[in-house]
Amino acid sequence: KEVLDGLFRPKSVAVIGASATPGKIGYSVVEALNNGKYEGPIYPINLKADEILGHKAYPSILDLTGKVDLAVITVPAKFVLGSVEECGKAKVKGISIITSGFGEIGDHETENAIVETAHRYGMRVLGPNIIGSLSNSDKLNASFAPTLPLPGDASLISQSGALLIALDAGTYLRGVGFDKLFSLGNMADVDFSDIIEWLDQDERTKCISLYIEGLKDGRRFVDVCKKASKPIIALKSGVSAHGAAAAASHTGSLAGAAKVYGAAFEQAGIIQAQDLNNLFDLTQAFELQPPMKGDHLLIVTNGGGVGVLATDAAERYGIPLEFCPADLQAEMKNYMPEFGSAKNPVDITGGAGLEGYKKCIAFGLQQDWVDGLAVLYCETAMTNPMEIAQGILEAVHQAEENEASKGKPVAVSFVGGEHTAEAMRYLIDHGIPTYDDPARAVNVLGGLRQYARLQEAKANSKNED
Ligand code: ACO
Repeated sequence: KEVLDGLFRPKSVAVIGASATPGKIGYSVVEALNNGKYEGPIYPINLKADEILGHKAYPSILDLTGKVDLAVITVPAKFVLGSVEECGKAKVKGISIITSGFGEIGDHETENAIVETAHRYGMRVLGPNIIGSLSNSDKLNASFAPTLPLPGDASLISQSGALLIALDAGTYLRGVGFDKLFSLGNMADVDFSDIIEWLDQDERTKCISLYIEGLKDGRRFVDVCKKASKPIIALKSGVSAHGAAAAASHTGSLAGAAKVYGAAFEQAGIIQAQDLNNLFDLTQAFELQPPMKGDHLLIVTNGGGVGVLATDAAERYGIPLEFCPADLQAEMKNYMPEFGSAKNPVDITGGAGLEGYKKCIAFGLQQDWVDGLAVLYCETAMTNPMEIAQGILEAVHQAEENEASKGKPVAVSFVGGEHTAEAMRYLIDHGIPTYDDPARAVNVLGGLRQYARLQEAKANSKNED
């Protein structure tokens, strides 16, 4: 653990192949460390320069008097092995190799030699062929991604580097935050299992998200995920025949059949995301909401159409809707016009407005029968989206004052224009996952239900043991 702490939460960083030339990766990494406001010492290593971006530069890591936890390597492939040997002599803990041109192009020999050398000195290697690693809580951007992600409680491990840079930038647009991001590349040494095990102990990580092309040690991966105490969400690519070939030349990994992975994920207790948007959606929901402990989903809507779409989605995502018990229907009937429906979906209708929402939400969440809530809204001429968003939040908070409503997940869908988009952002910023499609809101509730079921099964099998 101490070595991985040094690799992922270093107290000092050296950049071997740091450069004073803008546009080079060795320049971008030092710049990223500076821009992230990393507080430990930064040591650029360069054969000629005296100073790079405000830091004294050294010709070799062996010239340093201070200790180095993490060495980021950005020298061309043919110099990497020599640099790793020097890192070992300098008692570095972890090495992050950004350089490409090893296993992914068939040079397994050099890749293996790098790992053997590192292990001989007790070091661990992230990469090669990566963008690096980032940690908001350590103000560490040890990568060539321009910025740290929007802060949040999830951490993401991605086998693809370019995708990670793009997702990093996307965190701001989507309002989905992360504490740590890891690029895995060729996984010559440190792999998914190592980081998942480490993140399970990381107090800043509440849920773990994965972008996987292929695994090297599937059995260990399943064991580690099974033991993890935090939700794990995975997006697996390379499931088609041609996709598998693309993954092989990208990160040198064996992608494997969709069915094999599906079964392994189920066994490992992993929630499987269908695509990138879904990976973000689920991550956001797991960051912000508790698991759904029972099967009863309540849907409150002002539009029949979105209600029907959500009902279909509920069946698709494993939480088929049931009609509310008669006493709940009778009470909620009081909160809507005569022509509304309290069955489930509870359709307060377009004319019902703010009060209808507030009353149904606060009442619904307090009922033992209700295990999770989806609130749907269609922008109408008579309602102001921001007022509705504020009302939803108020009602959820009001319900939470009552013990019976605690620990129940809420997800929201708003469909509309620009004002609706602002209102959605308001809800996300206040801890309510909100989506632009009713099926997306129901999908994440299905994920939260699936996770609770997996936890129950885990607890039952422990009791049987
Ligand atoms: N010790 C210290 N410094 C050294 C050493 C050494 N042994 N050898 C070279 N250097 C210096 C160089 O002098 C240079 O500094 P300078 O600009 O002051 O001259 C610096 O290290 C970089 O070396 P260059 O020869 O200029 O190499 P360049 O920057 O062109 O390329 C790189 C190096 C970026 C590692 C390249 O080989 C590479 O692998 N690129 C791909 C990296 C990548 O994209 N990885 C992520 C993949 S994931 C994805 O999908 C994006």
